[in-house]
Amino acid sequence: MIRVGIIGLGVGERHIAGFEADERCRVVALIDQDPAKLAEVSNRNPGRRTGSSADEILNDPEIDVVSIASYDRDHHSQVMRAIEAGKHVFVEKPLCLFENELQDIRSALRRRPDIKLSSNLILRRTPRFIRLRERIQHGEMGEVYYLEGDYNYGRLHKITEGWRGKQPYYSVVHGGAIHLLDLLMWLTGQRPAEVFAFGSRLATSGTSFSFNDCVAALLRFPSGMLAKVTANFACVMPHTHLLSVYGTAASFQHGPGGAALYQSRSPDIAPARIDDAYPGAEKGDLIPSFVRSILDGSEPEISAADVLDCMAVSLAIEAALQTNAPVRVDYH
Ligand SMILES: NC(=O)c1ccc[n+]([C@@H]2O[C@H](COP(=O)([O-])OP(=O)(O)OC[C@H]3O[C@@H](n4cnc5c(N)ncnc54)[C@H](O)[C@@H]3O)[C@@H](O)[C@H]2O)c1
Repeated sequence: MIRVGIIGLGVGERHIAGFEADERCRVVALIDQDPAKLAEVSNRNPGRRTGSSADEILNDPEIDVVSIASYDRDHHSQVMRAIEAGKHVFVEKPLCLFENELQDIRSALRRRPDIKLSSNLILRRTPRFIRLRERIQHGEMGEVYYLEGDYNYGRLHKITEGWRGKQPYYSVVHGGAIHLLDLLMWLTGQRPAEVFAFGSRLATSGTSFSFNDCVAALLRFPSGMLAKVTANFACVMPHTHLLSVYGTAASFQHGPGGAALYQSRSPDIAPARIDDAYPGAEKGDLIPSFVRSILDGSEPEISAADVLDCMAVSLAIEAALQTNAPVRVDYH
C-alpha cells in the first residue's frame, strides 16, 4: 500500500481521486495551514489524519508520497525535503521559482535516482491535444514550423485579491504559460534552444498586483521551428487556452469557438471541424500513471526530466524579461 500525504487543499483536494483511483494507494494525511479549509476538506474526505504543518508528513517515515499543492514559493523547499527523506513527489506547477532552486532539485534527483517526481501539467490529458499529437507524429501536419500557445487566465481577481498577488514574487510565466510551454514541447518532441520575452502590467495598474500580468515570449528551436507563448492573466474572457500549430501540410487552430484543421490554402475548401473534447480532463488525471511508475518502476506520463526541462524554459523566459535580451535555455 502506498501512503500519501497532501500539502495544500485547494487544487490539492482534487489529487485525492487521482491517487485513490488505484486501490494500492491511499491518501492518509491532509495538511493545510488554514484551519477552516482543513476542516471543510476533511469533512468531505473523512477518515484521514489532518494537520496544519507540512512537517507532519515530511518527517513521517510512514508516508511514501508527498503531493505538493501549497503556494508556489513553498514548492522548492518541500520538494527538496521530500526527496531527501526518500519520498516520491507529485508537485503542482511550478516546480520552483528560481534558477538556483531548479539546480538544487536537479542535483537532489541525481543523488536519488530511485525517487519518482512528476507534476500536474494537465493539458497533456486533453483529448483534443492528444489527438493533435498523434496527427503530428503520423506526419499529417507535415513538418511543424510554427506554434502559438496562449494561456488566457480570465480570473483577474485571483492575482489582484488572492494569494498570488501577496507573494514576494509571482510569475505569470511559471504560474500559467508553463502549461503551454509543456504542451508545445510534448506535441513536437522538441526543446527550445533560445527565448526572448516582453512583459507588461498595464492591465493591473492601480491594483495591488506588482508583477507582469501579461508576458509574450518567442521561442526558437534547434530545428528552426519557432513558437510564441503568452501568459495573459487580465483578459476579459473566461479561462481558456488558445493553440495554433502550423505544419507544411496542415494548420490546426483551437480557441473558444472550437477547433479546426486546415488542409488547403483555398478559400473555397472549408477546414475540418475537430470535435475531440476540450478540456476533457480532471485535475487528478495524471496521478494514476505516477502511482503506477512507483509500483512498477516505469516512467510517469510526465517524467522528472520533462518537469525539469519545462521549468528551465520558463526560467529562461523570466531571465529574458529581466535582462531584456535573448537567453539560451540551460538544460544541464
Ligand atoms: N495544475 C493546475 O492546473 C493547477 C490549478 C490550480 C492551481 N495549481 C497550483 O496549485 C498550487 C495551489 O494553488 P490553488 O489554486 O490550489 O490555491 P488555493 O489558495 O486554492 O489553495 C492553496 C491551499 O494551500 C494552503 N497552503 C499554502 N501553502 C501551504 C503550506 N506551506 N503548508 C500548508 N498549507 C499551505 C493554503 O492555506 C490553501 O488552503 C499553486 O502552486 C498553483 O500554481 C495548479
